[in-house]
Amino acid sequence: MCGIVGYLGGRNAYPILIKGLQRLEYRGYDSAGVALINDNGNLVIYKTKGKVEDLIRVSRDQDVSGTVGIAHTRWATHGEPSDVNSHPHFSENQNLALIHNGIIENYQSLKTELSRKGYHFRSDTDTEVVIQLIQYLMDSQGISLEEAVPMALQHVVGAYALAILDKNHPERMIAARKGSPLVVGIGENEFFVGSDASPIIEYTNKVVYIGEEQIVFLEKGKEMRITDLRSVEQTAEIRELEMSLSQIEKGGYPHFMLKEIFEQPQTLLASMQGRLHPELGVVKLSGFIDNRKRLLSAKRIVICACGTSWHAGLIGKYLIEELAHIPVEVEYSSEFRYRKPVLFPTDIVVAISQSGETADTLAAIQLAREAGAFLFGICNVVGSSIARATDTGCYTHIGPEIGVASTKAFTAQVATLSLIALSFAEQLNTISESRRQELVSELQRIPEKIAKILGHDEKIRDLAKTFTYARNCLYLGRGYNYPVALEGALKLKEISYIHAEGYPAAEMKHGPIALIDEEMPVVVIAPKRGNYEKILSNIQEIKARKGRIVSIVTEGDTDVAKLSDWSFEIPDTEDCFEPILSIIPLQLLAYHIAIAKGRNVDQPRNLAKSVTVE
Ligand code: G6P
Repeated sequence: MCGIVGYLGGRNAYPILIKGLQRLEYRGYDSAGVALINDNGNLVIYKTKGKVEDLIRVSRDQDVSGTVGIAHTRWATHGEPSDVNSHPHFSENQNLALIHNGIIENYQSLKTELSRKGYHFRSDTDTEVVIQLIQYLMDSQGISLEEAVPMALQHVVGAYALAILDKNHPERMIAARKGSPLVVGIGENEFFVGSDASPIIEYTNKVVYIGEEQIVFLEKGKEMRITDLRSVEQTAEIRELEMSLSQIEKGGYPHFMLKEIFEQPQTLLASMQGRLHPELGVVKLSGFIDNRKRLLSAKRIVICACGTSWHAGLIGKYLIEELAHIPVEVEYSSEFRYRKPVLFPTDIVVAISQSGETADTLAAIQLAREAGAFLFGICNVVGSSIARATDTGCYTHIGPEIGVASTKAFTAQVATLSLIALSFAEQLNTISESRRQELVSELQRIPEKIAKILGHDEKIRDLAKTFTYARNCLYLGRGYNYPVALEGALKLKEISYIHAEGYPAAEMKHGPIALIDEEMPVVVIAPKRGNYEKILSNIQEIKARKGRIVSIVTEGDTDVAKLSDWSFEIPDTEDCFEPILSIIPLQLLAYHIAIAKGRNVDQPRNLAKSVTVE
């Protein structure tokens, strides 16, 4: 949940670290800090509560020279956001500095033990114990930092991606990973370290994704060395980055979120390219084809995910059950991992995760692995932990998603689930060839239909101003649009801080109807197909209670529009693809309401993009 970045080479480290932190700020943004071994050979730390721009202010008149450094942007877990709890943290003698992303679960007992031995803790963080423990092992056993790090990490319970500097060895840096992501970029006589590749891409496209429980030793003028926690040498697999710099910049939009909403016609095309073959009426997914036998023998599919990815998973259930007739269960990873789920070796567990790093989803698939289930990952970040921990899968290929509120990842996940459902349907003969041909052709048309909806942006912006007063908001949908109601409500609450609930429209009369009055905006997703007549009567019920109705309707439909205070049209499509269209106006509505309320949409309070802690 925090971002870490490091540099070791011949250039000035500070500007590289600051730029890196700005790229990683989506991971956490309540405090920031940097440690440098400056040109005078001093190990200095500058850190502050607040954002990277506050760190720039704090270090303005300081000596920021030096060609080696580490930096951190924090999302607090242990200890409130404050200057002293910010990373980096010094060891007792201030010769070592450390940054950390993750949670050290046994920090309390380690802290008590080290305090007894005379080590002083300045912060309330779990992190500080790691660097103190390393120094303690060096002092008490007379060993080097290289020897102390693996030893210390064997005592540590929890998750980490960390990087360490040693004042006495300004030509070296050590980094390690367990549970939290860590990438090393290899340049010409220089190394870059990052929580992901975004701080690295500008300088090199050669990267190594550090594996679980691995330690990486970096030294100027030498090749990188990797070992496991028992100091057994490991091979470094160098990979080429596919991402480009323009993908991680705003490209003229005021916010990443708006850029990502508007990118969806292209990102959807990208996620289906080479997979969807309308001329043949088929779908070709290599992750599916290569494991065909195993997948087709599945008796049941269990989808595990969190947040927006869970909403996509729920649509996946509807798609797979309708098109492929395989029973599907959708689980919150955080619940699944801690209850005693009944799993069979004939099950397929599908993990959906944009970041590929969500701790609960990773733990859920580890549990499924132990039960012998076959693991299929739908991830966006190439080389991410979930992508590597699954047996096979599909990348969504939408480029980096930076806005904390997920938008383009959701539509791509739903499109990918549609491709999977169609692959099963073809192989299991659960729908006719002509029906499959119709669906494949329609899926191909979805990107241009999204582009059409985006053309209504201004109308939605105008409406948004009307709703800044709202304190509560209800989103209703039926069938395929019920998960869309959940996702629309999530978008609104995440970035505008207006309380919003998504509900299956018919359930309204079992509770939420009591909330409806002339103050209450009710967003109803009511396209012409599916349970149209039913939702029409739900709208009548809201109208009778004077609720203010915003509806999402199919182009040309006047019946619902007449009953609504405001309505937005979406092009007609197959029921099962409606979510990919109906979510677009809801993403824009949430964005514009949040902007009208003066919120920071790309970095909403208390949230983080990648949740690598439980
Ligand atoms: C966080 C993000 C959400 C995301 C969820 C799951 O809460 O803010 O946007 O949907 O994590 O993340 P994942 O990377 O697993 O899809």
